[in-house]
This record gives sequence, structure tokens and C-alpha cells, in this order.
Amino acid sequence: MELTDIAPYFQTTEISTAAREKVFSLLGSLRAYHQPTFDHSIRVGILAHKLGGMQNHDPKTGIYGALHDIGKLNIHLDVLNKTEGFNEEDRQRMKSHVSEGYKILSSLELPFSAWIALTHHRYQPRFYPENYELSKYPFPIPNATPSTKLLADTWASLVSTGDSYDAATNRKNDRFHGVQLVGQELKNWLITQNPASEYIIRKAYDTGILS
Ligand SMILES: [Fe+2]
Ligand SMILES: [Fe+2]
Repeated sequence: MELTDIAPYFQTTEISTAAREKVFSLLGSLRAYHQPTFDHSIRVGILAHKLGGMQNHDPKTGIYGALHDIGKLNIHLDVLNKTEGFNEEDRQRMKSHVSEGYKILSSLELPFSAWIALTHHRYQPRFYPENYELSKYPFPIPNATPSTKLLADTWASLVSTGDSYDAATNRKNDRFHGVQLVGQELKNWLITQNPASEYIIRKAYDTGILS
């Protein structure tokens, strides 16, 4: 994947030049650090953009998707490159990508992206961060209204769906013991990963965004 693959999704007047530059700079760093995570991020960005377009037309959904795993910049390559035999220590190190992403993105004043990076694994059955850990990280928009927070959670859930779909279809690991899920099986699995998004998942299949 190339940065130019996602660039067309960001050509909108609703995204400031400053924000676009920050996003491309981060993605450039991610590409230099770990190409497979970069490729995954671009695919999730494109998927999130399409899923967001299906729900309404927030042009920033692609950014939220593209940056969801940016915290992996701070995860050691030994862990990122491991495709099998994860032990508990590896799992804990990998899990910290969500708080690392939150720190990177909130310091760059990309608060929605920061929240989505922190919470994009909260929608799956074995979710993280857990509530006690989540409480350490304030919602990065001071004095946000409940509806702003709800909107960020909605986007996080949507990015989570794109993330699960891409991980199941492209990532090489031992999650399914070498079996690639396809068709109805993949669709059913996606719903188990994010039951709250069942309606969106079914709609995405009906419209051909997912297949
Ligand atoms: Fe992630
Ligand atoms: Fe991901």
C-alpha cells in the first residue's frame, strides 16, 4: 500500500491542511517502522471511510481508521513481527498500543483519533482496555458534551468493525489456526466480534462494502 492510496479520501475541505499533514507524517513514520501495520492501517482507513459514508458523510472516518493502530509505533518490532506463539508478556506489550496511540494522538491535538485509538478494541468479547484502565485516560476533548462522546464511541465501533474484517482477511497469525474465514462464516464471526454493530455489518454486506 502507498500513502497515495488513501490520499483521495482526505481531499476534502472539512479536513484542515494542518490535520492532514499530521496524519500523513504519522503514517509515513509507521510505514518506515513496520510496513505490514502501515498496510493494515491504510486498508482500515479506506474501509472506515466507506462504512462512515454508509452511515453519514463524516469525511474524517478514514483518518480515524488510518490512525487506529498508530500506537504500534511504540511497540517493539519483535512483538509486531510475531505471527505465532504469543505468550502473556507479548500480549500485554501488544495491548499497550492502544494507550500509546492515545498519548501520541492527544499530544498532537487529534482528540477524536486519540479516543478511537484507545477504544478500538473495546467492542470485542475479550475487550481492552478494561474499565479500571480506561478511567486513567480522560476523554481528550475537555468539557465534551455527552453527544460528542457518543459520536466518538460510534466511530470507534465502526473502526473496530473495519479492523476486525481486515485482520481476519489479511493478517497472518494463528488466531484461526491457519484457516481463513470467508463468506457467511466471516460475516458471522464479525458479528460475534462486534455485536453492537450487527446492523452496520449486515448493511455493509448488503451494499458490497464487505464481502
Ligand atoms: Fe489495534
Ligand atoms: Fe488494527
